[in-house]
Amino acid sequence: MTNDFLSLADLSADEMIGLINLADELKRKRDDHVAYRPLEGKTIALIFEKPSLRTRVTFEIGIFQLGGYGIFYQTRLGERESVPDVARNLERWNDGIVARTFSHASLLALADNASVPVINALTDKEHPCQILADAQALRMHKGGFDGLKVAFVGDGNNVFASWVHFVARMPMQLTLVCPEGYEPCPEVAEFAKKHGGGRIQITHDVESGVAGADAVYTDVWASMGQEAEAAEREKIFAPYQVNDHLMSFARKDAVFMHCLPAHRGSEVTDSVIDSPQSIVFDEAENRLHVQKAVMLTLMG
Ligand code: CP
Ligand code: NVA
Repeated sequence: MTNDFLSLADLSADEMIGLINLADELKRKRDDHVAYRPLEGKTIALIFEKPSLRTRVTFEIGIFQLGGYGIFYQTRLGERESVPDVARNLERWNDGIVARTFSHASLLALADNASVPVINALTDKEHPCQILADAQALRMHKGGFDGLKVAFVGDGNNVFASWVHFVARMPMQLTLVCPEGYEPCPEVAEFAKKHGGGRIQITHDVESGVAGADAVYTDVWASMGQEAEAAEREKIFAPYQVNDHLMSFARKDAVFMHCLPAHRGSEVTDSVIDSPQSIVFDEAENRLHVQKAVMLTLMG
């Protein structure tokens, strides 16, 4: 693995499986942190430009459980001083940087200018920690990845991009079921084409897109930073709501997945997110275990 954790596109299948295996091990040993403190004496800066529940709390708990200390820092990068200067300051005091940024370019600028590891905690383009946690949950429920089909219903956004990077390296299928005009950015579409071996598809048709899915995944229709488009997107995405009718096209034993936060009544109904098929809180729990695995690998 490289010195940073910026994108799943940088990781091989073995590296991703290795992190998920380590996350499983940390999950089994979750109460061992009193004796096991590989980050003892280390500090990690947590820069957040956007709100967060899961990512912030799980990074802070994860750092604590590994024996380190996390310093939370809410800011708008580039406003008070340049992003490279922020990186050159933080590297002098810290052993790592976790960053949730609006622009992916800001994350890359932090990584380029800091000698300590930088971890992507979500950008406008990618959310790699999320998808490793999702994959850990999916494997626990399905016993493996081979031959699984994930139907991602909604926006071809940052979360979808990281799913593309994951599935491109795994013997799985991924179908984006989205309204016209909400396909992934050209870079992600190109990656899917080049590395996806024909296993990554895009359709606008709900029934055929969800047919045979082992997992139906959705995310908010308007991501953080797209609030001004929310009302328009509510109308455009309405036919793509994950409800009982949509779930009926998937396999009977399909799981429902969502990175959260969920907008209940918009992209998903209560009847689906609260059903026995829903594994959304396993995904959320696994954020802790996966991020501990990433920090341990980069800084332990
Ligand atoms: N899924 C996720 O990243 O949640 P937060 O935005 O609350 O961190
Ligand atoms: N696509 C969403 C994910 C939130 C975890 C966003 O960027 O707001």
